[in-house]
Amino acid sequence: MSAEQSIRPFLAELERQGALTRIDKVVDPCFEVSAFLSAADAGPALIFERVLGSNLRIAGNLLTGRERIAAALGIDVGEILPRIRESIRAPLPPVEVAAAPVQAVVVADSPLAALPVPRFFERERRPYITAGAIVARDPASGRGNLSFARLAILDGNSALIGIAPNHHLALFARRAAAAGRTLDIAVIIGAHPAIQLAACLYLGVGDDEMECAGRLLGEPVRMARARTVDLAVPAEAELVLEGRIDANHLVEEGPVSEYHGMYEEYGPGYLTTFSALTRREDAILQVIEPGYHREHIYLGALPIAAGLFDAAAAAAPNVRDLAVTEAGAGRTDVVIQLAAPLPGQARRLMSAVFAAASIVKRVTVVDEDIDPWDAVAVDWARTNRMRLERDLWLIPDADAVRSEPMEQAGRVTKIGFDATAKPDDRAAGNERALPPAAARETVKQWFCGHLPPDRRRWLK
Ligand SMILES: Cc1cc2nc3c(=O)[nH]c(=O)nc-3n(C[C@H](O)[C@H](O)[C@H](O)COP(=O)(O)O)c2cc1C
Repeated sequence: MSAEQSIRPFLAELERQGALTRIDKVVDPCFEVSAFLSAADAGPALIFERVLGSNLRIAGNLLTGRERIAAALGIDVGEILPRIRESIRAPLPPVEVAAAPVQAVVVADSPLAALPVPRFFERERRPYITAGAIVARDPASGRGNLSFARLAILDGNSALIGIAPNHHLALFARRAAAAGRTLDIAVIIGAHPAIQLAACLYLGVGDDEMECAGRLLGEPVRMARARTVDLAVPAEAELVLEGRIDANHLVEEGPVSEYHGMYEEYGPGYLTTFSALTRREDAILQVIEPGYHREHIYLGALPIAAGLFDAAAAAAPNVRDLAVTEAGAGRTDVVIQLAAPLPGQARRLMSAVFAAASIVKRVTVVDEDIDPWDAVAVDWARTNRMRLERDLWLIPDADAVRSEPMEQAGRVTKIGFDATAKPDDRAAGNERALPPAAARETVKQWFCGHLPPDRRRWLK
C-alpha cells in the first residue's frame, strides 16, 4: 500500500524540517489553544501533547502557506495550481476498503463529549470544530460532495452547522428537508492534506471533490463504509463524526469569525445530531485557527486560484499565473499575470473572474515580469504602470456575497486595476533598469552552487 492518507506523513516531514513545535504544557481548549495558534500563525505547526480534560492530542497551523501546501503534496510551489487544475480535469474515483484505522475506536454515546473542541474567539458563544471536511450526497442525484463547514457544539450529541446558503451542502440539506428528511453527513478530521484542499474546490453541483482528491494524491482515496450513516469515509483520517443535518430545525449562532478577520452575525444555522464518533486509537484532533489566520486563508486560496485560472485562461490564452492574495484572505482579491497583453484583454479578464466567483471584489492584471503572489511587486505595478483615470475600473452595485465586509443590501462596488505596462505611456520606455541578463544568470548560477535551496529563497 502507498503512503498513508492521513496528516501523519506531513507532520513527520514538518518535524524533520524543524517546522513543528510540540507544546508539552497542559493547555486549555477554552481560548488557550487558539491563543497559541494565533501567536504562531506565521511560525511552526503546533502539536499540543497535553490537553486539559482529554487524552487526545491536538494539532494545528499545518497548511499555513504555499510552501507548506507544496510540501504536503510533494511538489514545488509552482506546480500547485497546475496539479489542482489537473485534478479538476481528470478526477479519480475512490476505492472502498474493509480495514479502516479511523474506525479503531467507535463512540456511540455522546460522541461530541469525547472531543476537546476549542473555543477560539472572545465574542463567539461556543466551541467550534473548524477542520471538519464534510462528506454528503445530493438527495436528488446521489452524487457526492466534500466541503468544510464549521460546527458549533451545543451538547454531547448535537451541534449547529454554519453553511453559506449557496454552498452545495446547504443546498443538499434544504433538498432533504423539503422531502421531510434529514441529510446524512460524515465530518472528516485529519485526512490527508490533498483531501482537505479538494474540499475547498468550487465545482458544479454533483461534481465530487473526493475524486479530485484522488488525482491530487496520485491514487484513489481509500474509503470505508461509515457505521451509522449511509456514506463512505476516508479510511485513514484521524477522526470521523457521523450525523444528520435537519435543515427544518434552526439554531441561532450569534457572532462568528469570518475569513476577513472580523465577526459576522449570520443568524441561525441548521441543527445537526451525531450518532457516532469513530477514530484512530491514538487520534490527533486537527484544528484550523479560523478568521484571518493563514491556514484558513491558504487552504481556500489555492483551490479558488486553480478554478479561477481555468476561467481566466478560457478568456485569454496568454494568462500565465493567478494569485488569490493573503490581503484578500484568500477569497476576495485576485491578481492575474498576463504575457504580452493585448488591448482590452485586462478588462475582459476582470469580467471573467468576477463572473466566475461572486466572492471576488478586486482584480489586478499585471505583466509577466511581476510575480502575482508577491504583494510588493504587484503594488509596484499599480503604482508605476497605471494611469488611474484610464486603468481603474469601478463597478458599482455589483452583487455581494453575505461574507463581504462592505456589503450593503446585497451590493458592493467591485474594482479592477489594469497594472500592465502600456507601450506609449513613457517616452523613456517601460524597460526595468537591471544588470544585463547574461550577468544576472551567471550570478544566479553562482548562488545556486553555493547556497542550499532553503537559504536562497530570496533569489530571483
Ligand atoms: C478551514 C475552512 C473552514 C471553512 N468553513 C466554512 C464554514 O463554516 N461555512 C461555509 O459555508 N464554508 C466554509 N468554508 C468554505 C467552504 O468549505 C468552501 O467554499 C467549499 O468549496 C464549499 O463547497 P461547495 O463548493 O461544495 O459548496 C471553509 C473553508 C475552509 C478552508
